[in-house]
Amino acid sequence: MDRSSFITHEAFEGEISDVLIPRERIVSRLDELAAEIAACYAGKELTALAVMTGAMVFLSDLIRRLPLRVRLDVVRASSYPSRAQRSESVSVIGPVAFDLAGRDVLIVDDILDSGKTLRAIASCAAGARAASVRTCVLLRKRRDDLAERPRADFVGFDIDDHFVVGYGLDHDNLYRNLPDICLLRGPGGGQRA
Ligand code: IMP
Ligand code: MG
Repeated sequence: MDRSSFITHEAFEGEISDVLIPRERIVSRLDELAAEIAACYAGKELTALAVMTGAMVFLSDLIRRLPLRVRLDVVRASSYPSRAQRSESVSVIGPVAFDLAGRDVLIVDDILDSGKTLRAIASCAAGARAASVRTCVLLRKRRDDLAERPRADFVGFDIDDHFVVGYGLDHDNLYRNLPDICLLRGPGGGQRA
């Protein structure tokens, strides 16, 4: 592992086993992703609907790369008990600020795993009569065990089925401030719980 990238997070030393996606790769992929999104919404106003809290870091880096008229709203999706590593039933709160009727909505989340979260939020947006609903995730986990899951329209990186933290992603609401996408050391860390 390249220890130089750990300079800013010595507080987590010993808890992280590896860097899966270093910050430099995130930055360059964000430029490409933003270009794809900008081309798709050219001439339109975009309503970004961010899934709290995991999408915060990704969202803030992404929207500053979009040369579009962007409105921003948030939803909160509570999908699993704090220390669990698989989502269970999903409840959605929000959007908090806007009526989505007639808007071109881009749901932005940190990661597509089972797809339950995106499915629940996309169905809320469709129910609110959005003009269009698309989805954007930074990470998409390979899940060969699932027969079907909602597709994501824009994807940063495909990753293996590891539990990852950093760049907004948490475990027990920690590690969100790590600048890289990392694997956790210890029970369940970096592997399926
Ligand atoms: P899904 O509903 O199973 O697709 O899970 C999506 C949500 O679970 C994401 O919004 C994340 O908050 C969370 N999640 C899934 N996998 C991970 C992970 O590896 N690390 C941190 N959070 C995860
Ligand atoms: Mg989430």
